[in-house]
Amino acid sequence: MSSTIAIPPGMPQYDDVPRFDVERIRADFPILEREINGHPLVYLDSANTSHKPRQVIDALREHYERHNANVSRSVHTLGTEATEAYEAARAKVAAFINAPSADEVVFTKNSTEAINLVAYAFSNASTGPAGSAGAADPRFRLGPGDEVVVSEMEHHSNIVPWQLLCERTGATLRWFGVTEGGRLDESNLDELVTERTRIVALVHMSNILGTVNATSRITRRVREVGALLLLDCSQSVPHLPMDVVDHDADFIVFTGHKMCGPTGIGVLWGRSELLAAMPPVLGGGSMIETVTMAGSTFAAPPARFEAGTPPIAEAVGLGAAVDYLSGIGMRAVQWHEKELTTYALDALRTVPDLRIFGPEVPVGRGGTISFALGDVHPHDVGQVLDAQGVQVRVGHHCARPTCTRFGVPAMTRASFYLYTTTAEIDALVRGLEQARKVFG
Ligand code: ALA
Repeated sequence: MSSTIAIPPGMPQYDDVPRFDVERIRADFPILEREINGHPLVYLDSANTSHKPRQVIDALREHYERHNANVSRSVHTLGTEATEAYEAARAKVAAFINAPSADEVVFTKNSTEAINLVAYAFSNASTGPAGSAGAADPRFRLGPGDEVVVSEMEHHSNIVPWQLLCERTGATLRWFGVTEGGRLDESNLDELVTERTRIVALVHMSNILGTVNATSRITRRVREVGALLLLDCSQSVPHLPMDVVDHDADFIVFTGHKMCGPTGIGVLWGRSELLAAMPPVLGGGSMIETVTMAGSTFAAPPARFEAGTPPIAEAVGLGAAVDYLSGIGMRAVQWHEKELTTYALDALRTVPDLRIFGPEVPVGRGGTISFALGDVHPHDVGQVLDAQGVQVRVGHHCARPTCTRFGVPAMTRASFYLYTTTAEIDALVRGLEQARKVFG
């Protein structure tokens, strides 16, 4: 690593930073040996999905080869082993985010499903007859006059579920704006988050701008007005140490496939007391206490929210991913990406006509950088880069309102992870220079 960087406020002192050998990390990821179009793979799309280390791939294979069975419903040996492995994964995830109890971790399919789960719990509480299992807690009842607050830098998965909820209940959706510098505009916080607000659902790290939102002011305001706070941590939990107690949110969501784990597994973390008050969303096996033809009562969380056969091997794989990341240390991962981001921001500034969207300094941001190259269409940029083995994401990044905010239909995005090197950033810059030549 050649860049010399100033230590941003709040970051650990330089001598105190745990480090790792990135080449040793890379050796854990078989896919990084691939060539693409005759060039070594340069994978700069980890915000989309991360690659998987051998340790996670082996855990999946071992599960299917040795312990495969359904969970929570079989007394035989394999069923017991599978259940133990599934619940051990839950405990590992809980420890990874410093959750006070493993029962606060609900396994879902992904972050999108986790956000929808909370939105539908509101919906069920709001439309169910008073006194029904669904209507237990007034905090989840929503109607005309109530408000839900999101922001203009959300992924669609943290906009659309709330729009649909508002349509179903008659509540109103409001949102924070984004400043020209790509930060959350909190200037109207007190007018936006009021006694009418029932939930604020906010991205922790933007998947398109890379901005990491400081949440303490918003949390204070949310508590003042008696609302709830959900943080979309899909892009932060894979990259930063996460402590749900410190963050003092009510819910956080994240997904396994962006943090070295398999696809098909996500997490809703919720405070025990809130999960216990929430009505069920999907009905079916494993989420009940009793069922008669006249009606049903429901299991305590997390089972209440995990109807049907869950993603068992995927949870085991996520547990292995958590072990892998914990073994390296999330502070080391964070610092590695801080250095890469510093290096990349400097390197991208050398490319003529390149406009960075989002924070241009490596403070309060992660290793996800979106940009425009003059007026070359991002799809053309992506194709020239791909021809050189460089994999980036182009398009609206499922964050169309953010693109609209910056007056563009699409952006090119490079995103880093623990296996990314400065040499790969150099390859990106060479590719962009090539794109400028091709498209004039
Ligand atoms: N949310 C993922 C991304 O930003 C899919 O690429």
